[in-house]
Amino acid sequence: MRGVAVAQRLENFIGGEWVGASGGETFESIVPATGETLASFPRSGAADVDRAVAAAKEAFESWRLVPAPRRGEIVFRLGELLREHKEELTDLMTREMGKVRAEAGGDVQEAIDMSYYMAGEGRRLFGQTTPSELPDKFMMSVRMPIGVVGAITPWNFPIAIPSWKLCPALVCGNTVVLKPAEDTPFLAERFVELLAEAGVPAGVVNVVHGYGEEAGDALVRHPDVPVITFTGSRETGVAVTKAAADELKHVHLELGGKNAIIVMDDADLDLAVDGIVWSAFGTTGQRCTAASRVIVHQSVYGELSSKLVARAEQLRLGPGWEADTDVGPLINRAALEKVASYTDIGKGEGAKLLTGGEAVSGDGFFYRPTVFGDVEAGMRIAQEEIFGPTTALIPVTSFEEAVAAANSVEYGLSSSIFTRDVNTAFRAMRDLQAGITYINAGTTGAEVHLPFGGTKDTGNGHREAGQAALDVFTEWKSIYVDYSGRLQRAQIDNQ
Ligand code: UN1
Repeated sequence: MRGVAVAQRLENFIGGEWVGASGGETFESIVPATGETLASFPRSGAADVDRAVAAAKEAFESWRLVPAPRRGEIVFRLGELLREHKEELTDLMTREMGKVRAEAGGDVQEAIDMSYYMAGEGRRLFGQTTPSELPDKFMMSVRMPIGVVGAITPWNFPIAIPSWKLCPALVCGNTVVLKPAEDTPFLAERFVELLAEAGVPAGVVNVVHGYGEEAGDALVRHPDVPVITFTGSRETGVAVTKAAADELKHVHLELGGKNAIIVMDDADLDLAVDGIVWSAFGTTGQRCTAASRVIVHQSVYGELSSKLVARAEQLRLGPGWEADTDVGPLINRAALEKVASYTDIGKGEGAKLLTGGEAVSGDGFFYRPTVFGDVEAGMRIAQEEIFGPTTALIPVTSFEEAVAAANSVEYGLSSSIFTRDVNTAFRAMRDLQAGITYINAGTTGAEVHLPFGGTKDTGNGHREAGQAALDVFTEWKSIYVDYSGRLQRAQIDNQ
C-alpha cells in the first residue's frame, strides 16, 4: 500500500502515473474522531483536470474496443482485491471517514458486491432484437459506451459509491476521471490503486483530488467529458446541472433525502425501534437514506418514543476503530455546526427535545444521538436534510395522514413502514413517493442489484446500481440490417 505509514503526501493518478497538482498546493485529510491530519493531497485545478481528461480521452479509443467480458474480468479482479484488502480498507475508513468498524466493512462489502455484479454485466449488456416490418431485414439495439465519465463522489460511502459509478462505467467501455470528496481522498486513492492492480490500463481511470469549486467545477465544465455522475447535496446538484447545460452533457444525480419511517398502530414496536435506531443513528445519520423522520400512529406514540429515547441514550459514542463504539463522529466541524444549528431550529419551532441535542466536548466531531418529539410535518427539522444523528417524531392519527406527511418533503429517496397488515403495506408501496420503500425494515440497506435513487428533488430521474446503472453509462444504438438486396422503405413499402 502506498503511504499509510510512511509517505503522508499523496498524489493524483493521471495516465497511469502518480503526479502532484500543477500548482503545487495541497490540502489535508483529517481524522474526524481526533482532528489529526491523516495525509495531504494535491489541491488540483483546471490544468490538472485537463491533463486527466486528455489521458482518459486517449485511453477511451482503445478501451472501448476491449471486449466487454474482458473489461468485466478486470472489474471482477477488483472485487477479489477489495476482498483481500477488506480489513485494511475497513480500518482506514474508520479513521478517515469515521464510521464504525461493522459499517466500514459493509461499505467495502458493497463495493465487492458491485464489482462482482457489474463484472457479470460484461457478458450480458443485453440489447434487443425485434422483427422488422419488412422482409429480409434484421433489427437490434446495442449499448454503446459514451466516452469520458466525470465521477464526483461523496465522503459518506467512500469506497462503495466510487464502485457504484466506476464499475458500471468501466464495464460499459467508458474511461473515467474521478474527483473524490476532499474529506476522504485516501480511500479513493486506495480504490484506484486496486483498480490499477486489477489490470485497468493506464489512462482508463484517473483521479484528480481537490475541492468541488476548483477541480470538480473544471471537470463538470470540461468539453471532453460528456457524462457527469454526481452524488452530493441538492444545491450542488443544481449547480452541476447548470454548469453542464451548455455542453448538453448527460448528468446523473443522486442527491438528498428526508426519509421517513412510518410506524402504524399494529406494528411490532420492538422491531420498529431496532429499525429506527439503525437507520437514524447508523453512520451517525450521515446516509442519504438515513431516517430523519419517524411518523408514528398516535396510539403507539408514547410507547415508541420512550423505547426509542432509551435506546438512543444507550448508544456509545467513540472512534470508529474501537470495538465497543456504536456511533462515530460527524465528518468535520462544519457538519457538527450544521447539526447543532438544527437542534436550535427545532427548539425554536416548538418541537420537544427528548434526548441528545449537544456536542461532546473534546477533539473529535461528536454529537449525541438526538430525538425530537411533537414535531409537525411542516417544521424545518422535518423538511430539511440535516445529515446527522437527529430524528423527528411526528404523531399522526391515520394511514392517510402518515402518507401525506411522508410525501410532504421535497426529496424522495427512501421510505419505510412498519405494519402487520398486508393491505396497509401494499398501499404504502403504491403511495409513498420515493425511489425505495421498505416494509418492516428501516430506510437503509439497499442492495447493489436493484436500482438506487430517488424521485422528486433527490435526483433527475436516473438510477445507479442494478441494470438501471447501465442507462447512465451507455447510449442506445439501433441497428437495421437489410439483406433483401433492394431498397425497402419503412412505413411505405409494407402497406
Ligand atoms: C448513501 O447514503 O448515499 O442503503 C448510500 C444504504 C446503503 C447506501 C447508502 N446501502 O443505506
